[in-house]
Amino acid sequence: MRIDKYISGCGYASRSEVKDLVKRGIVVADGRVCKKCDEQVREDSVVEVDGKTLIYRKYVYLMLNKPKGYVSAVSDKRYPPVTDFVPAEYKHFDVYPVGRLDIDTEGLLILTNDGQFAHSVMSPGKNVKKRYFACVDLPMAEEDIETFAAGMEFKEFTARPALLEITDNPHEVYIEIAEGKFHQVKRMCARCGKSVTYLKRVSVGGVKLDEKLAPGEMRELSKEEVETLVNY
Ligand code: URA
Repeated sequence: MRIDKYISGCGYASRSEVKDLVKRGIVVADGRVCKKCDEQVREDSVVEVDGKTLIYRKYVYLMLNKPKGYVSAVSDKRYPPVTDFVPAEYKHFDVYPVGRLDIDTEGLLILTNDGQFAHSVMSPGKNVKKRYFACVDLPMAEEDIETFAAGMEFKEFTARPALLEITDNPHEVYIEIAEGKFHQVKRMCARCGKSVTYLKRVSVGGVKLDEKLAPGEMRELSKEEVETLVNY
């Protein structure tokens, strides 16, 4: 691959910025100074910029604590997209959200540029559980747990058996679903006669929302977190 692609792939500089670095003679690939941006290197080449060794990667995996008011998309005509939160050093990776949270839903949203990973996490066959904390207008009761556990028929899909955990406060519950259909949690609660007043996703598969992240903050998933989802 070209050296400018390699360096931008490391998140070090944009491809146009690499031009300047090369001009300054501070880019060294496998021991020789690069003279041009289109010089070829391998993925396992050792590349240094100004004495700093870079690590090339093609894919990135980010965790966002999504705040309300943002759409799970890369662009939108009416509302700001969640990609507004992508830090500058990750912009060139062109990440997009893995699945969707409603505009008024908060919490864990994963963004990546790895299409296969995104597809696999969202694939119905993989059955990756998504866990939510929800507040509802009316108290949830034991019979609602059974309604969730039985699964639910909707016009365009059948929701698999889902877990409803009622906390000490019957207006506050945890819900675990296998799919991730449009407004699924809200529709399942509505089936029990309750309206969701607050919704936050707290985990996807084995990956929990990092509570250290303030709304709107992002961090990279650790290697272990990515593997948890890949091997789910
Ligand atoms: N279910 C919903 O109703 N909304 C979300 O944002 C996610 C799951």
